[in-house]
Amino acid sequence: MGYTRVPLLLLVLQAHLCLVSPGVAGLSFSYDFSIPDPGRINRKILRPLPDYGNSENRCGGVICLHSSYVKNSSARVFYKQPVRLWDGLTGKRASFSTSFSFSMSGLRVGLNTTTLPKGPGTAFFIGPFPSSLPPNSGGGLLGLFGDKSSFTPTVAVEFDTQWDDGWDPYDATGDHVGINVNSIHSDSYSRDLAKGDLAAGTVSANVTYDAGSNLLEVTVRLANGSTTSISALLNLKKQRLPQDAAIGFSTGKGEDTNFSPVLISWSFSSTDPRTPLWVIILSSVASALLAASVVATLIFFTMRKRWAAMMKIESPVAKEFSYNELSASTNNFSEDRKLGAGSFGKVYRGDLKDPRMPPVAVKVLTGHMDSQIRKDFVTEVTTLCQLSHRNLVKLVGWCSDGKPLMLVYELVTNRSLDEHLHGQGRLLTWTERYQVALDIGFAIEYLHNGSKEPILHRDIKPDNVMLDDAFHAKLGDFGLVRQVNPGQGSLRGTTMIGSYHYMDPQCTNGSASTASDMYSFGVLLLEVATGKRSQASLDPEKGFPNSLTSTVRESYHKGHVVEMADARLNGDFDKSQMARVLTVGLLCVQLDRALRPEIREAINMLSNPSHPVPQLGA
Ligand SMILES: *[C@@H]1O[C@H](CO)[C@@H](O)[C@H](O)[C@H]1NC(C)=O
Ligand SMILES: *[C@@H]1O[C@H](CO)[C@@H](O)[C@H](O)[C@H]1NC(C)=O
Ligand SMILES: *[C@@H]1O[C@H](CO)[C@@H](O)[C@H](O)[C@H]1NC(C)=O
Ligand SMILES: *[C@@H]1O[C@H](CO)[C@@H](O)[C@H](O)[C@H]1NC(C)=O
Repeated sequence: MGYTRVPLLLLVLQAHLCLVSPGVAGLSFSYDFSIPDPGRINRKILRPLPDYGNSENRCGGVICLHSSYVKNSSARVFYKQPVRLWDGLTGKRASFSTSFSFSMSGLRVGLNTTTLPKGPGTAFFIGPFPSSLPPNSGGGLLGLFGDKSSFTPTVAVEFDTQWDDGWDPYDATGDHVGINVNSIHSDSYSRDLAKGDLAAGTVSANVTYDAGSNLLEVTVRLANGSTTSISALLNLKKQRLPQDAAIGFSTGKGEDTNFSPVLISWSFSSTDPRTPLWVIILSSVASALLAASVVATLIFFTMRKRWAAMMKIESPVAKEFSYNELSASTNNFSEDRKLGAGSFGKVYRGDLKDPRMPPVAVKVLTGHMDSQIRKDFVTEVTTLCQLSHRNLVKLVGWCSDGKPLMLVYELVTNRSLDEHLHGQGRLLTWTERYQVALDIGFAIEYLHNGSKEPILHRDIKPDNVMLDDAFHAKLGDFGLVRQVNPGQGSLRGTTMIGSYHYMDPQCTNGSASTASDMYSFGVLLLEVATGKRSQASLDPEKGFPNSLTSTVRESYHKGHVVEMADARLNGDFDKSQMARVLTVGLLCVQLDRALRPEIREAINMLSNPSHPVPQLGA
């Protein structure tokens, strides 16, 4: 065995795992389309077929699953990226679960069963990516297949409200739920229901697939509130489903053109089917050891430390860059490419050699590489790799082979909120600011509630809010992210970090919690509304008095908080929105953590004009 073989093997494997395949391994998202989305960002995750443009008004602001008026037509809506169903190397399969709610009668409520719009139905499907709409697939074919006898590999959960002779189970009057495997027939897996059970209101469903047991389980909450379930045993790989599959909804329309189902919410999460790199390495190493002599054993021991380090930061989505690659991309970290300085180091614009790669932001972490910084780095990379949200800056990769550690992010083109509020940037309109407030709220909601354990950001401030070319906000700089211990709700014994102008004064005793993120969010809201910088003084005796929060609070108690609005807006804003943003900001910066709202509540107060906002205590 040659001396260079093992590193070479590593390279080949990394290339295989990181680059070759476009499907997202371990995909996870969650969208509630009923939350107001003035920027129409949520719906950008979906690809409609045919493209229905701006027809969402017709669907009450949520997602149209079928908005054409053409009889016997079909439509699809699918997620923009494919999901990885199985691993090409090992054949290992992914498990997934998805929840969605929809309404076959649009958002109209109180319909009675004799006047319901009549339509064949809709289906959740998994099939070839990119998805295409077979011609003549309207009616009972539900947009899934163009022909009653030849079927592309597709598994669908159908919600059928119209009986089709010949391929539906015999139930001439009622609705039914079925599982279709490479066929429009659902006879093998079907549940008959009463008329109106699916069409007379909002229906929600959970679909889970366990690759270990091959069990596909569907639980449906019917329009009348009761639940029913069906299940099927199937191996998606043996059923010839593609490695990278489209997921989405497919709908068939019949004679009644008023039939226009809508999608209200959708979440999805799948496991990564790939064998972790370290398992592959260990098994390669084991066979190498068998074949090789003492020399190989020696090589193994000398390199073990390096492998251990590499294994730790192995991540499902991002890729590892070499120092030379990043140095070349930033023109040797030249001054004119410097974008700014984050909490842990300088950030440069990078243009990678590969023309298919969009420009990136390369963060060079300063400080010597002691074990704490290395640990932070590993934390940042592993945590960030699991996160995916439109309002979080995406991690593209990392580099740990040169002296300084580096992180590579997507480049968010319009720089930071701080520069637009206080620096060279352009003055943001109120509509833009309000959207920024909601965007950052959504990002925090994802961090706090998106996974089993809340993730703390710990350094929320305008400097860390990046704006994209449409001035939508993304929260970045996760150098300080920590996973909170379950049940504890806060992390003790960690040092105080972050800028003190935005920091919860209660953090000085060393405990960060979701409530301390809420404090920083509150300060950010006040800054967005007033256009003034937060100014805290480093005076622990007086509880770090903050001139911005106290001025706004005084004005609130005098009953004219709206006067605190940024004068540069020239009064060009929605007064009730302004009052809400300022009041929610004040609620979040209350000293008593127990009085601060949780992020979900804060978003409700910010986005819903009829949601009650509590009075602030004196
Ligand atoms: C729609 O399909 C039905 C049943 O197959 C058929 O009777 C009807 O003529 C079709 N309508 C149109 C407009 O194609
Ligand atoms: C449902 O609508 C039909 C037609 O408009 C009407 O005759 C019937 O009384 C309604 N049924 C109920 C329960 O409201
Ligand atoms: C709802 O519909 C199901 C299926 O038709 C039926 O079994 C159940 O009794 C109904 N539940 C209620 C609360 O009406
Ligand atoms: C789906 O799962 C969620 C979370 O476990 C649960 O709250 C909800 O009631 C389930 N819905 C149905 C229709 O089973």
